[in-house]
This record gives sequence, structure tokens and C-alpha cells, in this order.
Amino acid sequence: QTRVLTGITTTGTPHLGNYVGAIRPAIAASRRADVDAFFFMADYHALIKSDDPARIERSRLEIAASWLAAGLDPNKVTFYRQSDIPEIPELTWFLICVTAKGLLNRAHAYKASVDQNTEKGEDPDAGVTAGLYMYPVLMAADILAFNAQHVPVGRDQIQHIEMARDIAQRFNHIYQREFFVLPEALIEEQVATLPGLDGRKMSKSYDNTIPLFAGGTKQLRETIMRIVTDSRMPGEPKDPDSSSLFTIFQAFASEAESAAFRRALEEGIGWGEAKQVLYERIEADVAPMRERYENLIARPAAIEEILREGARKARAIAGPKIAELRDAIGLRAMS
Ligand code: TYM
Repeated sequence: QTRVLTGITTTGTPHLGNYVGAIRPAIAASRRADVDAFFFMADYHALIKSDDPARIERSRLEIAASWLAAGLDPNKVTFYRQSDIPEIPELTWFLICVTAKGLLNRAHAYKASVDQNTEKGEDPDAGVTAGLYMYPVLMAADILAFNAQHVPVGRDQIQHIEMARDIAQRFNHIYQREFFVLPEALIEEQVATLPGLDGRKMSKSYDNTIPLFAGGTKQLRETIMRIVTDSRMPGEPKDPDSSSLFTIFQAFASEAESAAFRRALEEGIGWGEAKQVLYERIEADVAPMRERYENLIARPAAIEEILREGARKARAIAGPKIAELRDAIGLRAMS
């Protein structure tokens, strides 16, 4: 059995990048008989990025409904909220105590803030919370609490998985036992980074996302029509390889469909028409899921029950693991 684990931060509505980078490959993996899957809402991570309670609450519901609508089977997958597992913050502390500060100095998100501040001539750490700094350790605890071997993610998370490996290795070394398996990122090379409307990585923080379900088919179409293209007119050949529209299409299409679309672009299909083709391709995949999503989101109590059951299953594994660690590091009960 291979243990597969992944999470999504609950700061917004799921977008196509989350779907092709994490949700879709994770669900495909979870259907394999030799896989033991753990998928969760990273709502403690959300607190690092948002102090808007209503936004976090809404996002938790939307992300949970999205996973289920995309085909997650809660009888097969352990599906839970990070904040329902007190063993995770407990493990985070154990890990913080063996993590070199220098390792965290190199984290991309933290470094980006420092570089920005430095450029503006401000205190390098201005506006940086200790939470942002510790982000990679909390993520390591998510993974190591369950000894996950494979972590399906988009390319932007690779550094975090590498840090989780470093931290696990360090802990194993200090306490002289293989407590933790070293996790590996599982990346779909085809869609490692899905571009957004402006061609940069699709990301909530760039405000360039295409929502997976929110707003329905009308919003999906309207958003796709806003994808930035060059100014070539209908009839002029287009370059598929420099077009984010084509990259997004590929993430949803078979090789034959992609080849046909490539030809259409090279033969000069207009951008408006090309966007319609892209919309129809995505809509064909998304429409049946969207119907399930709308039913689910109207029944938060049913989702709540699924997540509580998931938390019970998750704690049955994380609990004994933490007990073992407590004993090993000197926190054993006196008897
Ligand atoms: P988050 O919430 O930013 O993104 C969730 C997942 O979606 C992927 N993703 C993308 N993939 C391809 N193209 C894109 N444009 C794109 N945008 C997002 C991300 O790579 C990710 O897989 N720190 C994590 C959440 C997390 C986690 C974990 C993940 C917390 N603990 C433990 C795995 C294991 C994050 O903020 O992802």
C-alpha cells in the first residue's frame, strides 16, 4: 500500500489550477487498489494568508464540496480538515525544534516578501508574521503525521515537499530512528503549472484564476473569454506553444484533440472562436461535476458529517504516531 496525501489552503474558491494540479491526479490515485489516500482542507494554513473569518468558512465549504463533486469517495479516502486534527500542531512544534532557521530563510514565499521589502528600502521582515515563516513546518507536519509517501501537487509546492524531507531526515537523525518516511512530490509533467488569464501561473494571489465551479457555466465562459492573447487576426497563423489558451486546452484534452486544436491555431482560427472551443472542452468535463457540486454545497450538514468521520479516521492514525514520538523525545508518562 502506498500512502498518498495532499491538501488545499482554504482561502478562496477552487480554480482550474487546483483541479488539474492536485484534485484530479489525487482522485485518480485514490481509485487505485494499492493506494491509501488522505486529502484535507489546510485551514490552519489559511490563517497565515487571511484574517477574514467569513472568507475562510466559505472556502472550507467550497473546497470540500469540490473534492466530493470531483469524485472523492469518503468511504475509501480519509477526508478531513487540518484544524480537526490537534496532533498536527503538536507535531509542528516537535518539528520546529529540530528545523534549522536557515532552512526556513530559504523558503520561496518568505524570501519573496523579504526581497520585496528590501527593494522598497523597508525592514526586510516588515509585515511578515511568524506564521508565514513557519508555513513549511506546518506543511511538513501535515505530511509526516501520516507518513505519506507520495504528495500530488503542482510545481509551486515542490520546495515545500523538499523541506518536509529535510525536516524528516533531520528528526530521524537526531532521534536515531526511522520515525518518518521521506515524502516525494508527485507532479503531472503535462500540467505542472497551469497558466492563468494573463499567462502567469494561475493563482489566487495574482487574481488571474478561472474558477472550477463558482458562478456556473456563464462565469466559466466569460472568464475564458478574458484570457489574454496576442493581436493576430482571424486567418493569421497562431503559435500554440506561446499561447496559454493552448496550454490550458492541453490540460483537459486527449493527445488527438490537442493535435487537432494545434492545427486549427496554426491554420488561423480566430482567438474568439478558439476560446469557444476551449470553453466547450472544459465544460464537457466540468458540467457533470458542477451539478453534484451545487447539490453538495446546499447540504453543509452532510459535508460536516463526512469531515467529522474523516477526522476520526485520521486521528486514529496520527494519535498513536504522536504518542510514539512523545515517548521517544522525552515526554513519556512517569510511572
Ligand atoms: P494551494 O492551496 O495554493 O494549492 C492547492 C494545490 O493546487 C496546486 N496548484 C496548481 N497546480 C498547477 N497549476 C497551478 N496554476 C496551480 N495553482 C495551484 C498546488 O500546487 C497545490 O497542489 N501549501 C499548499 C497546501 C498544503 C499541502 C499540505 C499540500 C498544506 N499542507 C500538505 C500538500 C501536502 C498550498 O497552499 O496549496
